[in-house]
Amino acid sequence: MRHLLTLKDLTTAEIEEILAIGNALKADLKRGVREPLFPNFVMGMIFQKQSLRTRVSFETLMTHLGGSAIYLAGDVDFGKREPIHDFARVMSEMVDLVMIRAKHHEDVAEFAKYASVPVINGLTDYSHPCQALADIMTLRELVGDTTGKKFAWVGDANNVALSLAFICGKLGLKFSMGTPGAYQFSDEILQQIHENAPDAEFEVTEDPVKAVEGASAVYTDVWVSMGQEDEKAQRERDFAAYQVNAELMKHCPDAYFMHCLPARRGFEVTEEVIDGPQSAIIPEAGNRLHAQKGAVVWLLRQVQAAKAQN
Ligand code: CP
Ligand code: NVA
Repeated sequence: MRHLLTLKDLTTAEIEEILAIGNALKADLKRGVREPLFPNFVMGMIFQKQSLRTRVSFETLMTHLGGSAIYLAGDVDFGKREPIHDFARVMSEMVDLVMIRAKHHEDVAEFAKYASVPVINGLTDYSHPCQALADIMTLRELVGDTTGKKFAWVGDANNVALSLAFICGKLGLKFSMGTPGAYQFSDEILQQIHENAPDAEFEVTEDPVKAVEGASAVYTDVWVSMGQEDEKAQRERDFAAYQVNAELMKHCPDAYFMHCLPARRGFEVTEEVIDGPQSAIIPEAGNRLHAQKGAVVWLLRQVQAAKAQN
């Protein structure tokens, strides 16, 4: 059973296939075509954290495909009310695939171990693969071929940064991170980034200017991710010199500004940049729908193919 837990588990060809399906269905949608490829299929969506984009995009895409999605939040008390192996096996009896936004990545991995339907990571403390798929789809729409382009990350080495490092490595983009020393990836994560794409160009620096020079995209995210609220004051001090503002963007005049959203204007990015001409944030958010539709169709087609063989 294939899942989408981290982009490190996918080959370059598989990522390209997901993006190609997403692009084709996006073009169909633009023409007014919403072909019900999976009529009456049901996605279970477990949310342990808040969401706008992830929930709305998955719910919408399931409707476009002829199916539906069930939103499960506090009432199911994921990981607490019952063991995850029971949760996974019960849901597998009822729904066709599951999306989980969880506090702990290990819980999603545990769920996938016991599930007999595909599981999609809708954000964990470790990674956010759906976001990175949408981000690359967006950058390609803006600049065309992204091979060899420089993708700059400014800020915390967090879940979104890791998924972007994986996808950039797999698709031949250079990934450059401007991150304060204490917030850079651990050696263990750096090893995973290397193993994901041993020949990829990957740079870490404490200098945000060096990180963005020559970049085609400059990406940032909140300094305080969900679950890190206790560290807010310290983080706001530590990241103060890593704001993406007009001064920093002067060093990469051809770059698009990207952000997974939600953003905190005046902290990791100024209003001038996020609402300015270089900003790609709205089409980027919109592409969550299309990239994830590609991933869902890719996963469900494999389930259908396996059933056809039996
Ligand atoms: N970018 C993102 O995942 O947004 P939500 O938290 O609103 O789903
Ligand atoms: N890094 C952020 C991303 C939100 C979409 C978080 O985990 O809260």
